[in-house]
Amino acid sequence: MTDQYAVVGNPIAHSKSPMIHAEFARQTGQDLVYAKLCAPLDDFAGCVTAFRDGGGRGLNVTVPFKVEAFRLATRLTERARLAEAVNTLKFDGDQILGDNTDGEGLVQDILAGCAFPIAGKRVLVLGAGGATRGILLPLIAQQPAALMVVNRTAAKAEELRAHVADHFAVEAAGFEALAGREFDLLINATSASLSATALPIAQDNFARGALAYDLAYGNGETVFMRQARVCGAAQVADGLGMLVGQAAESFYLWRGVRPDTAPVIALLRP
Ligand code: ATR
Repeated sequence: MTDQYAVVGNPIAHSKSPMIHAEFARQTGQDLVYAKLCAPLDDFAGCVTAFRDGGGRGLNVTVPFKVEAFRLATRLTERARLAEAVNTLKFDGDQILGDNTDGEGLVQDILAGCAFPIAGKRVLVLGAGGATRGILLPLIAQQPAALMVVNRTAAKAEELRAHVADHFAVEAAGFEALAGREFDLLINATSASLSATALPIAQDNFARGALAYDLAYGNGETVFMRQARVCGAAQVADGLGMLVGQAAESFYLWRGVRPDTAPVIALLRP
């Protein structure tokens, strides 16, 4: 029987995941179908169980269920444990493996999509919410020279610093600490792009050759991308490549085959 997968969220109508995974399956010759599930806000677990009992092999999990998926998993990868959020479930006998592929999706898009090596670079992450939590460990695994997390609410950045202290000496601060500090890679993980708000970054935060990467994506440039370009960033990118990258990592976890993301990103690019 054809293996069944799906993305579960609420709302879910807008999701590009079915199209992405259908392309991956076609490209790699994998026999699978991939659907969209809208789970009731008060019964995520019931929706997952019904899908699994019906023969489902794995799920992608999106807003607002990533923390519930983390709690539902019976086994977790280290990156999911650190993220405290799960975007991929794999059903394996009576076990439910929970993984978080968001950070690796970002890293792969920076390395391959932007052709920008992270090793030895000075990295700045703006924001200290769930999105930042999901990307820190894969960024650290690339061995940057330095990693700073700044947040409007400095205490939340400090909490994250302590959370990953066993892995890397992250510097944590409020936005005011950015004055005069220079970075090679600047990542916007705040939700400011969604409300089209500018962030307090300045020209002197951008080193020569800097890449500015916004986890958000939409129609055209985000506010952060525009700001970064005006500040002299050599390269700006939105999060579309990360979206396809995290899907590719989930596909790999389920199928053991790594699809090529570039043609799928090109297909989605308006
Ligand atoms: P997500 O899961 O997308 O990370 P979140 O956990 O609600 O969502 O976190 C949102 C992040 O965006 C936080 O770091 C938030 O800063 P605060 O912790 O100070 O609230 C940040 N953020 C949202 N709007 C912002 C804005 N206009 N300027 C700066 N930071 C903003």
